[in-house]
Amino acid sequence: MTVSPNRPLDGQRAIVTGASSGIGAAIASALSVAGARVIVNFMGGEEAARQVVGGIVASDGEALAVQADVSREEQVQSLFAAAVDAWGGLDILVNNAGVQRDAAFVDMTLQDWETVIDINLGGQFLCAREAARLFLKQGVRPEVSAAAGKIICISSVHDVIPWAGHVNYAASKGGLGMMMKSIAQELARHRVRVNAISPGAIKTAINRAAWETPEAMARLLPLVPYGRIGEPDDIGKAAVWLASDESDYVTGATLYVDGGMTLYPAFIDNG
Ligand code: BGC
Repeated sequence: MTVSPNRPLDGQRAIVTGASSGIGAAIASALSVAGARVIVNFMGGEEAARQVVGGIVASDGEALAVQADVSREEQVQSLFAAAVDAWGGLDILVNNAGVQRDAAFVDMTLQDWETVIDINLGGQFLCAREAARLFLKQGVRPEVSAAAGKIICISSVHDVIPWAGHVNYAASKGGLGMMMKSIAQELARHRVRVNAISPGAIKTAINRAAWETPEAMARLLPLVPYGRIGEPDDIGKAAVWLASDESDYVTGATLYVDGGMTLYPAFIDNG
């Protein structure tokens, strides 16, 4: 099989966690347009996940909705078993599922802390480990990719930007950076590539309060030198590139897709 430049993921099989809405849904659709078959994982939003699958199928793609809470080991194992049952294996994992439980530090409950760490960090650990086990067992299939598998961790600009009122979230994303690089270092010899995408402000439900009124948008935009809020598809396109052989020599990297949010915009006329 020759991989077409328009469909760089032809013949590949992907799992996208947290894909019933927002960035995950956009990534699932973008991977499908690029040729991959996709498992649209969801935790609570079954109807929304079915709509994402419906959209993919309507565009002649192949997708399945599979429920799993990524912080639960046995549910993660069934999620990966679903890919093996349906398609005989896996080539791409996009570790996207994540939550915010915001609170002032002094009011943050242990449950707020644990929920965010368990899903954002523990969930990525469990899914990456399951994917890696499969990739090592399968080895390289040169007709579809030069790598035995690709893992893409969806992080955040808050893996480097401290975030008051979101200590749990920033800690989960900071931890993710070192987890991703350590896994990348360990698995490179097996030709498994592990990278991260760190989105900035992307217009989704998780940060609705930051963009839904003109006043909120006016407070947000000075943080984005490029002058616009991001769209979920900005992340979808980056994920396709990191999943494809176009990025075959890239591993252990974090791609900031943030309109320059990490460029210290407060210093533009200052300092
Ligand atoms: C958060 C959003 C926030 C963005 C930029 C993301 O990781 O989930 O709520 O708008 O970072 O601050």
